[in-house]
Amino acid sequence: TAATTTDIQDGQEAAVTSKPAATIAREVARRRTFGIISHPDAGKTTLTEKLLLFSGAIQLAGTVKGRKSGRHATSDWMDIEKQRGISVASSVMQFEFRDHVINLLDTPGHQDFSEDTYRVLTAVDSALMVIDAAKGVEEQTIKLLDVCRMRATPIVTFMNKLDRETRDPLELLDEVESVLKIECAPVTWPIGMGKNFRGVYHLLNDEVMLFKAGEEKADGAYEIIKGIDNPRLSEMFPLEMEQLKMEVELVHGASHPFDLERFLSGVQTPVFFGSAINNFGVREILSALIDWAPAPRERDATVRAVRPDEQPFSGFVFKIQANMDPAHRDRIAFLRVCSGRFEKGMKVKHLRLGREVKLSSVVTFMASSREQVEEAYAGDIIGLPNHGNMQIGDSFSEGEMLTFTGIPYFAPELFRTVRIRNPLKTKQLHKGLQQLGEEGAVQVFKPVMGSDLILGAVGVLQFEVVASRLLNEYGVDAVFEGTNTSSARWVSSDDKKSLADFETQLAHNVAYDAAGNLAYLATSGVNLRLTQERWPKLQFHATREHA
Ligand code: G4P
Repeated sequence: TAATTTDIQDGQEAAVTSKPAATIAREVARRRTFGIISHPDAGKTTLTEKLLLFSGAIQLAGTVKGRKSGRHATSDWMDIEKQRGISVASSVMQFEFRDHVINLLDTPGHQDFSEDTYRVLTAVDSALMVIDAAKGVEEQTIKLLDVCRMRATPIVTFMNKLDRETRDPLELLDEVESVLKIECAPVTWPIGMGKNFRGVYHLLNDEVMLFKAGEEKADGAYEIIKGIDNPRLSEMFPLEMEQLKMEVELVHGASHPFDLERFLSGVQTPVFFGSAINNFGVREILSALIDWAPAPRERDATVRAVRPDEQPFSGFVFKIQANMDPAHRDRIAFLRVCSGRFEKGMKVKHLRLGREVKLSSVVTFMASSREQVEEAYAGDIIGLPNHGNMQIGDSFSEGEMLTFTGIPYFAPELFRTVRIRNPLKTKQLHKGLQQLGEEGAVQVFKPVMGSDLILGAVGVLQFEVVASRLLNEYGVDAVFEGTNTSSARWVSSDDKKSLADFETQLAHNVAYDAAGNLAYLATSGVNLRLTQERWPKLQFHATREHA
């Protein structure tokens, strides 16, 4: 009888523990976490809004747009704060579509472009690349795609604004392939453009979706005609159909067929054509994200890889945002859940500080309601209010010593020296910059020679935010001035002697960052190249991992 009792107990235990495991696995499988990469004006905001419309998360077009037009580039503290308040709310948009939970992470562009934009991409599992079909591949897209490449993030491509005169679609694919070095697999193909835009042909389903302008609602279904040889089509658009058939033949012959494995390994991108503002082609990209883009995958945590469906909770901080209210110095740390289940009120370990924290006032993001979400799974983002003790790259777990990797710092492209009006505030200035540097708001370089600190950023807004925060949080009235630094590279070498020689000989251009890493501050592109040639034993890095 004793054996039977144990058996029953074992059975019960198994039942109790396996239920949450199955729930976690199911919740992970239905999650998709992605960000949009695009150049300003390509249509990110418009598309975001249409995606939310589809999911029923918002009822009215113009909701997201309205927020955006309320933004101003200004150094006024309150305005920046207001702006940031907006961006806290729109930083992560979670919504449901076809029984999937979609987390859309905002990648701030325009004046908001900053290192956060890059870091957000370390927290996604896939990305949607939006290209203005009239303009083709633009500068910011190139940069953001480089960041995606670091983790071989799968990319879905949307060619936008086909309701306008655009560039030749074949030429666009060619440009994506040659400039972005990613293979294109067209899934839909445009029929005409501008005034003669008739719709798109779905190459995999052999059907034509007819274009109808001005769809403001989510359920604006468009007419579908089966088969490219359907006589109805050539009756309706004799000219365009002839052109389409020629192009499709070319496309079948010259471009790559869609291959899920190649997409998942980041070497191929499925390409869709459409018009975000007309809500045309948007459903297809949402379906591609659900059907093809990956659910959360395992993540490297240095000691081992962490699977998303593991029971213990874990995650890492990829972004810090200061609170809206200057009276409170609270910040929100954005944490990407990597495994397990977050429950409101649970206790987790802040691993860098070895401290237990209770997650009671966590911010969650649901675009459809103001309700507090009480749980989260791998792929979800939660916001942890804190007083400045959480940093970018910090890992959290239920106790196991994990260190999630892959949160890079990027070589800044904009530089300023800092001067203060009141020299008695030097100590506060250093303290403030140290903390803002650790927080990732700006990069701080201390030259080996000289006493001026040099700030580095990838977006100008970063300097404005730092100036405002120095004043409001540290009482330091700082003046930022131009420098002759044009780019920075972190320097490393196994050859310690070369490294030491480098530091002494180029002391005027060598600096340490806030984390104590050696960097070279180049005065021009030529200067950087020459220096690299002269010091062949040193490695120059454009990124560095968060230590
Ligand atoms: P962004 O977030 O990537 O910067 O782009 P956003 O969505 O704000 O779009 C930039 C401009 O492009 C907007 O026009 C928007 O209406 C327009 N746009 C977006 N998608 C399409 C499209 O499919 N077709 C056409 N023709 N235009 C599109 P704007 O004049 O700058 O702004 P607004 O005053 O119209 O709001």
